[in-house]
Amino acid sequence: MAVYKILIILIFNCLTVYASKQVTESVNALLPEDGRLNFTQLAIKYGHPAIEYEVITEDGYILKLFHIPGTKGRPVLLMHGIADSADTWIIRGNLSLAVSLANSGYDLWIGNIRGNRYSRHHVSLNPDEDDAFWNFSFHENGFYDLPAIIDTILNKTGADMLNAIAHSQGNTLFYVLCSTRPEYNSKINVMMALAPICYLQNVPPPLSILIQLSPSLYKLLSDFDINEIGNHNSLLNTFEKIICTRPKIGYAICIESIVFPIIGYDNEELKPDFVPVLVGHFPTSASTKGLYHFAQVGLRKTFAQFDYGNAGNLEKYNSTLPPVYDLNLVTTKIVLYVGLNDCISTIADVAILRSQLRNVVRYIVSPRLECNHLDHVWGEHMNNYLFPYIYDVLKSYK
Ligand SMILES: *[C@@H]1O[C@H](CO)[C@@H](O)[C@H](O)[C@H]1NC(C)=O
Ligand SMILES: *[C@@H]1O[C@H](CO)[C@@H](O)[C@H](O)[C@H]1NC(C)=O
Ligand SMILES: *[C@@H]1O[C@H](CO)[C@@H](O)[C@H](O)[C@H]1NC(C)=O
Ligand SMILES: *[C@@H]1O[C@H](CO)[C@@H](O)[C@H](O)[C@H]1NC(C)=O
Ligand SMILES: *[C@@H]1O[C@H](CO)[C@@H](O)[C@H](O)[C@H]1NC(C)=O
Repeated sequence: MAVYKILIILIFNCLTVYASKQVTESVNALLPEDGRLNFTQLAIKYGHPAIEYEVITEDGYILKLFHIPGTKGRPVLLMHGIADSADTWIIRGNLSLAVSLANSGYDLWIGNIRGNRYSRHHVSLNPDEDDAFWNFSFHENGFYDLPAIIDTILNKTGADMLNAIAHSQGNTLFYVLCSTRPEYNSKINVMMALAPICYLQNVPPPLSILIQLSPSLYKLLSDFDINEIGNHNSLLNTFEKIICTRPKIGYAICIESIVFPIIGYDNEELKPDFVPVLVGHFPTSASTKGLYHFAQVGLRKTFAQFDYGNAGNLEKYNSTLPPVYDLNLVTTKIVLYVGLNDCISTIADVAILRSQLRNVVRYIVSPRLECNHLDHVWGEHMNNYLFPYIYDVLKSYK
């Protein structure tokens, strides 16, 4: 029992304790240049300097929004997924979506939700000290972050609507926003969902097992006062950089034993040479509440707000059950792009989402049969199996 406790405390410490500046610097020195550069620096390196904006949400979070100016069509907003950041759209360099769209002249806006490495700021809360900072899930990301980002873009461009491309949780935020604040439907012309995430009741193991265990895991983390996971400077991320970049064994441990079982196996698109770049950017901070909220959606088989239990729900929602998001209110045009080998956004769960959305204008199954949950952003050959569909959507729904 004592050994077990010490182990847990050790692991938890890795989540919460920061590596010293010296350690971080020497570990980062092991990474290739693209693993070390941040979004702004990568954008310059690949020929498209970005302008930075600070977006302040109604509830005081300060988010970083990047703009790569262009002249073609409506503004295009890219929204990343959970534990991820704007980086995800550019870490493939010349092969990435942000660079491809910028080369084609689109006016690009790349968002960051509260908590991640660029948006770990608040007008009054301190993310290192105040638990309240981390008291959010995809609900707040969709209800506060996304509308603040959209309004900033429309304000700066003078456009009346934008187009959006959103990966994983990034597209969940649109279902939350458009169902809770339906007036935003008319500000979004089309949203292309890569790896659509809404229902999670058909995911296979090991994720399904984690979902089953999630109430105990969340309680354990809360008991230890851990509400942030994946901090850029945590010991855990430092170990990730050290272990995952070891030749051969690093790929076997990190990618083949941990990442692929969860997201779907596709070693052609994520080869060992990309791992040292990837670990410099992923994961970045997410809230444990946000992860648990998704697990609740899987357990309850209902796309609803956070479940605080009967008493908590009564207090917060004046109802013993959390309010369900009404997908009937999502009227904006939606394109669903799915991978047959995606173990998180499964065909069966996307089918439920598709049957409940009113305006799915296209449903596309990736021609790459091995397409998993992250190939859309991290894949090496997205220009073959994904970008043509994106360009076609942007041209068709001007
Ligand atoms: C990127 O890194 C440079 C150099 O450290 C820094 O000046 C800049 O503020 C960083 N940009 C962001 C968005 O963090
Ligand atoms: C990216 O592509 C452009 C145009 O093909 C090329 O000029 C540039 O050198 C490439 N950048 C890198 C860092 O590979
Ligand atoms: C988190 O927010 C909910 C409702 O928004 C509130 O009921 C709860 O007390 C908050 N918890 C913390 C730790 O701030
Ligand atoms: C943007 O917001 C500013 C400040 O609220 C306002 O003065 C301006 O008219 C807005 N611009 C557009 C195009 O909505
Ligand atoms: C709470 O719900 C009850 C029953 O639906 C309703 O009568 C009451 O007005 C609600 N109270 C508030 C504060 O909304």
